[in-house]
Amino acid sequence: MKRNTFFEEKLKTLLGDCPFFDHAVCYDVLASTNDTAKELAASGLGEGTVILAESQTMGRGRMGRSFFSPQGSGLYMSVILRPAGKVSDPGLLTACAAVAVYQAILDMFDISVSIKWVNDLYAGGKKLCGILAEGHLALRPEDTYIVLGIGLNLAPPGGGYPEELQDIATSISEITGTNRLPDLTEICASVVRRWGELYEKLPDSRFLDIYRSASCVLGNEITYVKEGKKFLGKAVSIDDQARLVVLSEKGETQVLESGEVNFVRPVLL
Ligand code: BTN
Repeated sequence: MKRNTFFEEKLKTLLGDCPFFDHAVCYDVLASTNDTAKELAASGLGEGTVILAESQTMGRGRMGRSFFSPQGSGLYMSVILRPAGKVSDPGLLTACAAVAVYQAILDMFDISVSIKWVNDLYAGGKKLCGILAEGHLALRPEDTYIVLGIGLNLAPPGGGYPEELQDIATSISEITGTNRLPDLTEICASVVRRWGELYEKLPDSRFLDIYRSASCVLGNEITYVKEGKKFLGKAVSIDDQARLVVLSEKGETQVLESGEVNFVRPVLL
């Protein structure tokens, strides 16, 4: 893996006036930007450190899934947070990151995007972006850190999508119908800037109104898993902790903190 000092300098210039940003560490390839971010956080690097890689060999998603991360195809980045004395609820931080990426995409591209609770962004019925928050809870609050990993598909992989992704993944260029994309540092800077704006306002959770209005889940029939059991219900609301409130088919109200929901019928995303 080679350090990309050109990207590091560019991010420093682009984010010079962003109070959240500390500095960037960029590589051509990493196993996973989340893993490197965790190592750097454990070694003491501070909040606002951004780790960017042009590709990942072991990109990870939630629930033990892998995140396909070939070169020239996506934005793979992680941000270190040190939430001592601030909001540290991973659900809320993940929702906040989803809104930041949503806003950054709308700032840069004329496309329509929706948020699928809790951490995915969709466009044209397929997944465009995933977010993975991982944390280390320490005895001393100042040693606690959270790493927010963001994987945003920008262009179809040169060699095509692996079979299992063909019907479920999409990218910005497939949605806009153009191959001209801003470079990785511009997109990364846009995400960090939007993230910083929202993060500094926490615990103000008004960003959740944007989350709710962009949600493709609310009002729809879904299946979900609670305490190991699968249920059918309707997504009714998203509360101020970014939890999903569901009315089960038996008429019970259930509150989901994490997990994944699936649509019962195809939904216009
Ligand atoms: C998901 O879809 O479940 C979450 C995907 C998160 C992918 C990003 S890419 C950058 C960071 N590094 C990783 O290994 N994962 C996250």
